[in-house]
Amino acid sequence: MKEEINEVVKRLVSARKVAVLTGAGISAESGIPTFRGKGGLWRNYNPTELATPDAFNKDPKLVWEFYNWRRQIISKASFNEAHRALARMEEMIPEFTLITQNVDGLHQLAGSKYIIELHGNIWEVKCTVCEGIYLDRSPDLGPMPRCRNCQGLLRPNVVWFGESLDYNILREAFEISGNSEVMFSIGTSGVVQPAASLTLEAKRHGAFLVEINPEPTPQTHIMDISFQNRAGEILPEIVNLMSCQIQT
Ligand code: OAD
Repeated sequence: MKEEINEVVKRLVSARKVAVLTGAGISAESGIPTFRGKGGLWRNYNPTELATPDAFNKDPKLVWEFYNWRRQIISKASFNEAHRALARMEEMIPEFTLITQNVDGLHQLAGSKYIIELHGNIWEVKCTVCEGIYLDRSPDLGPMPRCRNCQGLLRPNVVWFGESLDYNILREAFEISGNSEVMFSIGTSGVVQPAASLTLEAKRHGAFLVEINPEPTPQTHIMDISFQNRAGEILPEIVNLMSCQIQT
């Protein structure tokens, strides 16, 4: 593992453009359940079946119960070593972009500055009638939260399965991935599109790909280096070594 870490550090210290794609796994060490794999069930529901417009239309109360549960967990969570390491990495790379599928806002709290949130942010709510968007950090919004302007039913302002990502956000994410010299894929199962195609775009343009995930993923085989470890084990080590090499 030491050799692989040294190789990654060598690439990073000479790179100008680095992109990082993160998923739910990077926040697992902060106690936030992932969507798939171990601990991925809420009651007996598969979360990926609740994060859909159909589920919300059919049973908004149930979907809000799920989101209020997630909001409560996230409101008590703190960023972890892995989030912090990425914020430190950003300070050492001339053009660094963090692309996240997470909606928990922990990268911001850890100090990352340039962040593309592909799937939105859990602290934003959107009115299903007037489409107004508000920031609301209350951990529990109750069973059927209403818009303060028109009393319409609110929904979380996150991207659900079957919904399109914001076109400009996605275009920027593809451009940045395609231009990166090194791209990381961290804590993502790599099965949700279009996010999963960002690493393919980077590869197609010759980027050096690094994965950090305790489990193999469908993308492991395209990686140049794959660490089957927790993000909190690997990232601080990479960043500490980078900082020594940059100072010397
Ligand atoms: P998943 O829940 O699909 O995958 C989490 C990944 O993190 C798994 O591959 C785990 O092996 C890995 N993992 C767990 N602990 C880890 C650790 N300590 N360090 C590193 N990796 C770890 O989450 P995503 O790939 O983010 O979308 O899922 C993608 C999207 O599907 C989410 O943004 C969400 C979900 O449904 C929407 O809600 C639209």
